[in-house]
Amino acid sequence: MSPFQITRTLPEDATDAALRADVLQGLTTTPKTLPPKWFYDAHGSELFEQITELQEYYPTRAEREILRDRAGEIAAAARARTLVELGSGSSEKTRHLLDALTGLHTYVPVDVSDSALTQAGQALVAERPGLAVHALIADFTGDLALPDTPGPRLLAFLGGTIGNLLPAERADFLGSLRALLAPGDALLLGTDLVKDERVLVRAYDDAAGVTAAFNKNVLTVVNRELGADFDPAAFDHVALWDPRDEWIEMRLRSRTGQTVKIPALDLAVDFAAGEELRTEVSAKFREEGVRAELAHAGLELTHWWTDRAGRFALSLSTVR
Ligand code: AVJ
Repeated sequence: MSPFQITRTLPEDATDAALRADVLQGLTTTPKTLPPKWFYDAHGSELFEQITELQEYYPTRAEREILRDRAGEIAAAARARTLVELGSGSSEKTRHLLDALTGLHTYVPVDVSDSALTQAGQALVAERPGLAVHALIADFTGDLALPDTPGPRLLAFLGGTIGNLLPAERADFLGSLRALLAPGDALLLGTDLVKDERVLVRAYDDAAGVTAAFNKNVLTVVNRELGADFDPAAFDHVALWDPRDEWIEMRLRSRTGQTVKIPALDLAVDFAAGEELRTEVSAKFREEGVRAELAHAGLELTHWWTDRAGRFALSLSTVR
């Protein structure tokens, strides 16, 4: 059997149906919203890669620092034979973990992007003889069926992407992750931390305007996929800190009163001048909150590592 396998659990047309449902729902309610997962077409993924290199955007560097410095401790605590990574993308940060997990048998990268999985998977098996890679094309917010590989399993969800979910969605999601784990397995979770508002806002409103372009890219996605006529230049990028919910919100503010047509939905959407469309929530965490949310899902936080500047955390938790 080839050491590289790829399994698709996401129907080819699932994306289209989900986008239609999300756009219809989000643009016909007040306030208007669109889920952040639609940022990531090929161009949006490229813009996100650029964001991770911005001086203002610290999370990627902070998390990489933790993985570099703590991979040995993580590996010693998890002793995993299977590493499952949700939203693996290019698997770039994962290399430290793969190096440290000496008894590893199988790596299971999970992503919606077929091309990223194939590229990263092929490269990994070529570099690491003895490692099996079983890639899954799947939407990890739905029901995940993991391949039958040896335990213990380490399930990694990095990048702080859990912050894109609202609190009730996070509770459901953590519960579904808990259900994938058996006694002896562990969850490695990346969470961005609450910090100075100016640092946070700058990370989501950079001077070069890359995040603004990333935000507006969702309009281009809706134009291409649903035949809409959004003019990205008719919207302003907005990033603000909500101190009550402790999250960053990204919005697109309509510069004028305008009507946008979405032929695939047979829909016309009116925007008042100054009206805002929420495109992303990026929640920031504190240790006690993460511990409580994990406990609610039946997981016990056993390790908490931050970067030296205390901006970002990786937590390890096990089944209670
Ligand atoms: C990929 C969800 C972790 O919330 O910081 C970056 C996405 N949005 N800049 C984040 C994002 C704006 C990012 N995550």
